[in-house]
Amino acid sequence: MLLRILKMIDKQELNTNIPAHVAIIMDGNGRWAKQKGFFRAVGHENGTKAVKEAVEGAAEIGVKFLTLYAFSTENWNRPKLEVDTLMKLLVNSLRKEIDTLQKNNIKLNAIGNLDALPNKARKELLEVIEKTKDNTHMTLSLALSYGSREELIKTIQEISNKVKNNVLSPHLINEAVINKHLYTKNLPDVDLLIRTSGEQRISNFLLWQIAYAELYFTEILWPDFKRTNLFEAILDYQKRERRFGKTSEQLS
Ligand code: IPE
Ligand code: IPE
Ligand code: MG
Repeated sequence: MLLRILKMIDKQELNTNIPAHVAIIMDGNGRWAKQKGFFRAVGHENGTKAVKEAVEGAAEIGVKFLTLYAFSTENWNRPKLEVDTLMKLLVNSLRKEIDTLQKNNIKLNAIGNLDALPNKARKELLEVIEKTKDNTHMTLSLALSYGSREELIKTIQEISNKVKNNVLSPHLINEAVINKHLYTKNLPDVDLLIRTSGEQRISNFLLWQIAYAELYFTEILWPDFKRTNLFEAILDYQKRERRFGKTSEQLS
């Protein structure tokens, strides 16, 4: 299957039209477990294998920025047991996968309200971020305790303070200024947003940053997601014409 998909990808296209920034809403762990008669935790555990697939697959074909929605601000409202399981899985995965990140020259980044994470998870995360900070092949951003509205509130508060302290004049507020205050300040706009599990919604993810992203929805539940599914999404992306408001004729 992998070979077949790889053969389908024109090498020239691979070199020239790989989305620079791919973001994924990794959804469906719970339903995957339920279908198999397992506890939800088993779905989350298997979800970490799909994370590895997506990360290695993206690095393999030259995606420069991969951003994964791992835990939303709304996910704090899940039962405590499930939240604890997810936080433990985060710590274990970071410990287990540090070698994969180093081997593939991947820099880890995190976006979201990291102060809300349990100390152990935050400490582990910051350690891996520090250890991988000089890696250059790809930036992997984990969205943790991330909510786009929370991010926009934080941004507006920071900008308002600058205006109040006469550091910034309101008429100078533009897209670049706003970008500079977002958690994603070091990332380009999203080119391709993928959501698994058949849900077709954004769930408070990167609202500002996906303004002109291509959206791709697949029925596959996250634990079943393989790198070939990522390549399929990218092939679909490559067939689209991104006009950014212009006419087709202007582009050609
Ligand atoms: C995605 O899977 C993982 C997180 C949101 C943390 P879900 O846990 O949302 O799985 P479903 O949507 O209930 O199937
Ligand atoms: C979105 O999935 C958050 C993550 C994938 C981390 P959810 O399962 O929490 O979203 P809803 O509740 O279906 O919108
Ligand atoms: Mg879900």
